[in-house]
Amino acid sequence: MDRIKITGGNKLSGTIPISGAKNAALPLMIASLLTDDRLTLKNVPNLADVNLLARILRNHGVDLAVDGKRAGPVAYLGETFHLTARDIVDTTAPYEMVSRMRASFWVLGPLIARMRKARVSLPGGCAIGTRPVDLHLTGLKALGAELDIDGGYVLARAPNGLVGNRVTFPKVSVGATHNVLMAAALAKGETLIENAAREPEIGDVAECLTKMGVEIEGIGTSTLRIQGKPRLEGAIHSVLPDRIETGTFAFAVAAAGGDVILQGACGRHLQAALDTLSRTGATVETVEGGIRVARNGAEISPVTLETQPFPGFPTDLQAQMMALVTRADGNSVIRETIFENRFMHVQELARLGADIQLHGDTATIKGVKTLRGAPVMATDLRASVSLVIAGLMADGETMINRVYHLDRGFERLEEKLSRCGADVTRVTEG
Ligand code: EPZ
Repeated sequence: MDRIKITGGNKLSGTIPISGAKNAALPLMIASLLTDDRLTLKNVPNLADVNLLARILRNHGVDLAVDGKRAGPVAYLGETFHLTARDIVDTTAPYEMVSRMRASFWVLGPLIARMRKARVSLPGGCAIGTRPVDLHLTGLKALGAELDIDGGYVLARAPNGLVGNRVTFPKVSVGATHNVLMAAALAKGETLIENAAREPEIGDVAECLTKMGVEIEGIGTSTLRIQGKPRLEGAIHSVLPDRIETGTFAFAVAAAGGDVILQGACGRHLQAALDTLSRTGATVETVEGGIRVARNGAEISPVTLETQPFPGFPTDLQAQMMALVTRADGNSVIRETIFENRFMHVQELARLGADIQLHGDTATIKGVKTLRGAPVMATDLRASVSLVIAGLMADGETMINRVYHLDRGFERLEEKLSRCGADVTRVTEG
């Protein structure tokens, strides 16, 4: 099993290319189920989650051809996926696959919309919380899907097709918005989604659906008005840059010190996170083609924040910000409001010498002068990368075990960091 070895203390300088967003690539790939035509996606990141979803879609009968295989100097240009769901041969998404990646549950809406039936495993809980799917189910029911739960599966039928309706979410959910938006694209008539998630990845999917022939008003807002079509066309779409990867590297530069350009990053997709980073004392500025982040000698100032749906501070950057302020000059307070159990990194950061007290959904981080390298364990994707950030600041060697979590969502992380001067290597055994 691979491990990542970091020897802390090096400053970072240079350029880090930002990959396409995992959390947009996944629903965009799923959108290929909505048409018998070819959907071409450019700038697809090469990640374990993307590869797993490709297997799941192939199981449904989607034909996937990949070009732009990475080799040579243009290594960081994403891959191009050509997805064609001409014949959907299987409308079951099995437990063995859905349980490994929650986003695969989002095939439910497109399958019912196109095939009028689907059998999709419930995803179950995961390390960061219970993560129910009630909002997905009530939203799809509102469009006319008949749903039963049996043997851990959602059995869905819509013998006469889905019909547009008003869906008002009582709580903001990224996944439920994706699911209902994609289903509404093939539903008869108009669907109004109120209290929709506004994450940029939803906007990216909506833009792609527009190219496929769906009329959508309100993209980027919490009210989406969708005019469904009986048939969607193929399209060519490029995946937007990954705002969570951007924020992660931005915080890493602030942690290690140095001066780096995050190439291809889009600041307005993570403004709240960048504003918080500026409050820690780092320099953050938009430059041509990306974002520049620097910290040279300045103390890290403590921050107080709570995670919120977009445009608030993202839960997917909470662990990384916590790692940064472990070395702050004072006490920081971080409240997690999205997931009830997203603090697994706290214990591991403590192994490096961080001083963190947890009370319910709130962590109080007392800044310490130094962290010291130690063996630590990756527990989920974002928690794992917070350990990388801490390792860059720590004296001595940090060995991160179970790095397959990192590979789910960060493309060639160690290569991107070491090109900027970090001492980070992957140790592959057996
Ligand atoms: C998406 O998960 C992301 N995943 C997550 O990123 C991200 O943390 C999350 O949105 C919040 O931004 C992908 O895009 C693939 P939600 P999702 O539905 O859609 C509750 C990462 O590290 N809820 O917006 O599953 C839920 O329990 C991952 O890349 C219900 O109560 O998140 C949570 O408290 C991790 N009922 C809140 O809503 C439902 O039916 C927000 O969850 C659905 C959700």
